[in-house]
Amino acid sequence: MKRNVLVVANWKNNTTLSDAHVLAMGVRNEIEHLDGVKVVLCPPAVWVTEVRNIVHDQIHHMGVGLQDISAEQPGPTTGEIAADLVESLIDYAIIGHSETLKLHNYDVETISEKIHSALASKITPIICVGEKSQSSSSRHSLARKLDSYLKGVSAEKRSKCIIAYEPIWAISGGSKKSRRAASAEYVNDVAVQLKKVVPANTRVLYGGSVSAENILQFIAQPEIDGVLVGGASLHLREFTTLVKNAARGS
Ligand code: PGA
Repeated sequence: MKRNVLVVANWKNNTTLSDAHVLAMGVRNEIEHLDGVKVVLCPPAVWVTEVRNIVHDQIHHMGVGLQDISAEQPGPTTGEIAADLVESLIDYAIIGHSETLKLHNYDVETISEKIHSALASKITPIICVGEKSQSSSSRHSLARKLDSYLKGVSAEKRSKCIIAYEPIWAISGGSKKSRRAASAEYVNDVAVQLKKVVPANTRVLYGGSVSAENILQFIAQPEIDGVLVGGASLHLREFTTLVKNAARGS
């Protein structure tokens, strides 16, 4: 049976309005008729409306997400975007990405509140966890960390979340030279650990230097349900090849 592989594109702090338009149109036109894959585009927040207009509701195997969401309710919090404000525009929100955490120093409670906020607005949280270095034993504590992020979230709601395993040492930083993805077997082992604190049907993605060439290795693993793609999602040809490979391997 075909699996529905989830491919999340994290454009990070890239793309002008016209870049975002061209990229979203290109992706939509290229993948419109594919089976076995769902693609979520996460542009910079300012282009979410533009991308939403391109990825409209009739295209069921595409979605739109933000790269972060506020833990705050609407109100006097300058610069924040509350889940309530965007619930009709987005389907997903990345929460706890290591680059966001580095800039904002969010603590566990804040991440937990962001998750609660997203779920209350029917936005699917894509919750990132990942260890700093490959040699560190900290990957063994990732399930505990995830469980603390999910404090107070029922099993039913946990199964609606998406977990993204993003080892910090494997994230490309945008430069092709420094790419070194984790091995697929290593990621599968971590996914098994993470799935101990969420219901078995919860989806776990891998993120870190995913490319059109290596995507098939990841989705061939039983516990990896998709990928979160940074650098490669900014290049139309590479990204659509990656998505087509994912559909082929699903
Ligand atoms: P990368 O980024 O694909 O460029 O390594 C992944 C991520 O940070 O989500």
